[in-house]
Amino acid sequence: MRILAVLLLLAAGAPAQTLRSAGERRGVLMGTAADTMDIAHDATYAATLAQQYNMIEAENEMKWGGIQPTQGVFNFTPGDTLATFAEAHGMKLRGHNLCWHSYNPRWLAKGDFTPSQLYTLLETYITTVAGHFKGKVFAWDVVNEALAGDGSGLRDSIWYNQPGIGLTGPAYIDQTFRWAHAADPQALLFYNEYDVEDINPKSDAMYSLAKGMLARGVPIHGVGLQFHVSASQGSLTPAALEANMARFAALGLQIHITELDVRIPVDADGKASASDLAAQAQRYRDIVSACLKYPACTAIQTWGFTDKRSWIPHAYKGYGAALPFDKEYQPKPAFASMLQVLKGPTESTGN
Ligand code: XIL
Repeated sequence: MRILAVLLLLAAGAPAQTLRSAGERRGVLMGTAADTMDIAHDATYAATLAQQYNMIEAENEMKWGGIQPTQGVFNFTPGDTLATFAEAHGMKLRGHNLCWHSYNPRWLAKGDFTPSQLYTLLETYITTVAGHFKGKVFAWDVVNEALAGDGSGLRDSIWYNQPGIGLTGPAYIDQTFRWAHAADPQALLFYNEYDVEDINPKSDAMYSLAKGMLARGVPIHGVGLQFHVSASQGSLTPAALEANMARFAALGLQIHITELDVRIPVDADGKASASDLAAQAQRYRDIVSACLKYPACTAIQTWGFTDKRSWIPHAYKGYGAALPFDKEYQPKPAFASMLQVLKGPTESTGN
């Protein structure tokens, strides 16, 4: 029995023990948000990142506030550092993001610019940044979080209506994609959004937006589903996740899971209960399983990978422990469930 198991394992190749090697076999990139400061100052962080993942994205350093904190001065150093790290470790670099209502530097957000000035600022920014990272960034979140929470339309922002760049409706979104495509025709261009994981008014609005962009000939290649979710959210059934992915796949778009984390309640020390960790592992399992059902779903990225570095405790009071590795870089049940799903039935049954 044991010999048979060994022979079968040999026939299948060495068992995949990392997310990246298991993902490679399933044709899905396994990624994480990362930060150059942590890479530089935390050797375990850097080693785990390189070992487990084949895609990275700057958590903040490639946002407008990171790249152009001072008007007219572009800082590409962190992005270039990530590109070098990615290349050294056989990883892809995902770009995040070119146009967002948030994380804009003060000079931009409070600059009282006219629509025509903003138009030029955005065009210059996208052209310069996408041009700089041409050949290094394989996919960009071109526009981030442009939809209103209730699905009623576009949210307020300096690019849309406060005062906006002078274009009506979704035309400003179309234009940003056209600029990005002109600057880097090879890059895959994504529209990225949160709270659009199941079928709801906001994901309906995103579906209409993407469909409209395609009809207008806009160069959009995919949608990013952020997946900042909780373990207890009842609406995120496997059927709902799959139905939502199915409709975007049917448009011919790629799907990237871009910012996955599964928050659970924690105590004052940041510790979670065993039952919440198990519920979290099940949630990760369902999400990875849903992605694997659709060839269009080509990347699964978590928003960080260690509970030592996560935005959740800051953004959601009383919650934390949202990532696959704990604060000591030990794999959690969530890691085991992701790996098991990626390995698939043949490897995980062990016979
Ligand atoms: C968050 C970062 O994790 C924080 O460190 C930062 O203070 C704010 O932004 N949606 C996005 C991400 O698209 O860029 C956000 O990242 C989380 C929500």
